Amino acid sequence: EKGTYPYYMLKEIDEQPAVLRKLLLKYQNEANQLTIDQKIVDSILESDRVYIVAAGTSYHAGLVGKELIEKMTHIPTEVHVSSEFGYNTPILSEKPFFIFLSQSGETADSRQVLVKTNALGYPSLTITNVPGSTLSRESTFTLLLHAGPEIAVASTKAYTAQIAVLAIFSEVVGIQKGLIKHGVMLRDIGIAANAIQSIVDDKESIEELASEYLSTSRNAFYIGRGMDYHVALEAALKLKEVSYIQTEGFAAGELKHGTIALIEEQTPVIALITEKSVAGHTRGNLQETKARGAHTLAISMEGLNRPEDQIVIPHVNPLLSSLAIVIPTQLLAYYCSLHRGNDVDKPRNLAKSVTVE
Ligand code: F6R
Repeated sequence: EKGTYPYYMLKEIDEQPAVLRKLLLKYQNEANQLTIDQKIVDSILESDRVYIVAAGTSYHAGLVGKELIEKMTHIPTEVHVSSEFGYNTPILSEKPFFIFLSQSGETADSRQVLVKTNALGYPSLTITNVPGSTLSRESTFTLLLHAGPEIAVASTKAYTAQIAVLAIFSEVVGIQKGLIKHGVMLRDIGIAANAIQSIVDDKESIEELASEYLSTSRNAFYIGRGMDYHVALEAALKLKEVSYIQTEGFAAGELKHGTIALIEEQTPVIALITEKSVAGHTRGNLQETKARGAHTLAISMEGLNRPEDQIVIPHVNPLLSSLAIVIPTQLLAYYCSLHRGNDVDKPRNLAKSVTVE
């Protein structure tokens, strides 16, 4: 039920702190440590490479997941778009472990890959919001997102829940490999939930920025480096699907190698800045677009912020920065869609789950 909310999308954006807190409870043992089924850990410890397979927003969560898995478990990880996997099949390692990310658990493109990997006898884990869904039933293991039904076509809380589950998974595996001595994810996902709460509590300021920056534009750009680049892809998908503004997510440093030709007077360029080592470079790239007339907006994390930044999010563990920095981009998309009079929850041409290949 929508309750007092005008649209499911806003309700689901607002639910994210609660979703993360619930996840932390669901994945905690009696000793208050994060835990997952030992069979999953054993299976992944036997493997030599992880292949994440997903579509759309779930694919973007997978890009963040790759960073988390590699940093915390040192297991090489590849991320693949499910619709390409069958034709552009990567060379598989000796002992692959497959992770299917799917909110609905019904995406046909992803299922096709699972049918293949099952035929080859490879172990698989589905991370999904829907118990008993096709992907969940057909894969070796399942981890649930516990996000509650996601009704709006544009995915929001499933993205953050997927990243949180991948962070929990990575930490548990990292601890068992002896790479991590003291887990921090229980605390730090909680801190991220608080950060999200403070961002959604201040949504009016983001609504104003949506009118100021996105009310008349035909195209827009999100830029970032590293983790922020992965979030830029998701931010762009969210904005384009609900506002119909043609939006590209770009690696900030790549923009000048051609695409900067599209920057005109007043083109919105939004930079995501949560990574210390690359913040200066991203700011430089934003400046390059401003010099060519772009209407620039910076979303940065406390500690890296500058006085001119339009949105500053609270500081969180940089491994989890995506959980917090994506929230203003979800709200920008929501308000932009609302102001343009679009059907926020049911954008044209889209279905909630894509069950054809
Ligand atoms: C975007 C969106 C889609 C889905 C994609 C995968 O907001 O909702 O891109 O993320 O169709 O769906 P699932 O996760 O159900 O496999």
